[in-house]
Amino acid sequence: MMQADGRYCIGRLQKMKKMNKSDSKIILAIESSCDETAASVVRNGREVLSNVISTQIEIHTLYGGVVPEIASRKHIENINPVIRQALKDADITFDDIDAIGVTYGPGLVGALLVGVAEAKALAFALDRPLVGVHHIEGHISANYIENKELEPPFVCLVVSGGHTHLVLVNDYGEYDVIGRTRDDAAGEAFDKVARAIGLGYPGGPKIDKLAKEGNPEAIEFPRAAIAGAEYDFSFSGLKSSVLNYINSCEMKGIQYNRADIAASFQKAVVDVLVSHSMKALKNTGWNKFAIAGGVASNSAVRKAFTDICKKEKIDFYYPSPVYCTDNAAMIGAAAYYEFIKGITHGYDLNAVPNLKLGERI
Ligand code: KG4
Ligand code: ZN
Repeated sequence: MMQADGRYCIGRLQKMKKMNKSDSKIILAIESSCDETAASVVRNGREVLSNVISTQIEIHTLYGGVVPEIASRKHIENINPVIRQALKDADITFDDIDAIGVTYGPGLVGALLVGVAEAKALAFALDRPLVGVHHIEGHISANYIENKELEPPFVCLVVSGGHTHLVLVNDYGEYDVIGRTRDDAAGEAFDKVARAIGLGYPGGPKIDKLAKEGNPEAIEFPRAAIAGAEYDFSFSGLKSSVLNYINSCEMKGIQYNRADIAASFQKAVVDVLVSHSMKALKNTGWNKFAIAGGVASNSAVRKAFTDICKKEKIDFYYPSPVYCTDNAAMIGAAAYYEFIKGITHGYDLNAVPNLKLGERI
């Protein structure tokens, strides 16, 4: 391949020889299910060669949350530059890619469609296989990137802005969802409580920070349990309880302490996440546990699980914060394990906004 710069050309050829070993598979992955436009190049499911994320937080902050129509438009503007940057950072070209991975659900339909259309166009133009990935499967697979020794089976708690799932990861691509939220997702509760105490969007990281200055025992907020569904979650009662607390303070003219609210709310969420997850580990007898999703980067969540897993002699895995929130490297990791099983999609792949984990369409 002709390059303007001869030195670069030799370097690239050497790199190509290394990559073309039969056991080496390069996936270009695309993620656009919500408000991040992301592309990543991942080798063999675990080695991230590039990870580019273009966040739309600034524009959605103006509206206090994600505006779907704006998200779709921004994805269209950003997707090509983001993919070009991912290839550049990985020092490869389209020729070097073995397959295209893309999130096709769940998520905002217009946002998903941008990534899916882009991935289909690339797969067709480059004549490469197309692998549709479930967004939650991506979050779970983020754990493979930095924990090279992690293999299924393990229990995984997925806590993000849109989902709270307790999952048995039986094998690569094989899942049983044993618990889920009945109402708000954990991240959604963080965002709503943050808004109520004037912290703005996205609230999770802001509550995390403010909670460090507060007393987690100051206010007794409820820990919801659901009769007959020991692994299911509910956070809307907790959110209402925080709002009621604020209202009643305001009505009585009492000055409330925002840091105490943040710390006590966070503790209530953490307690429920820990108790449900530990129950699942005890009942399965498995000794490997992972967390995933945006809320998995919460410092109190990480500390609580680090402590209890140490005490219970359970191996605990968690991704770095950049792989907890939405990114395409996690999609590349998940796509690789589908690809090597021979699971690929046709050009009729569509966005599926309510795709269930473990379901393949
Ligand atoms: O996984 P993610 O990027 O998007 C979804 O798939 O939903 O998660 C975003 C969510 C937001 O609700 C955000 O507030 C929350 O993750 N989050 C956090 C933290 N960082 C992000 N929640 C609590 N503590 C954090 N440090
Ligand atoms: Zn996500």
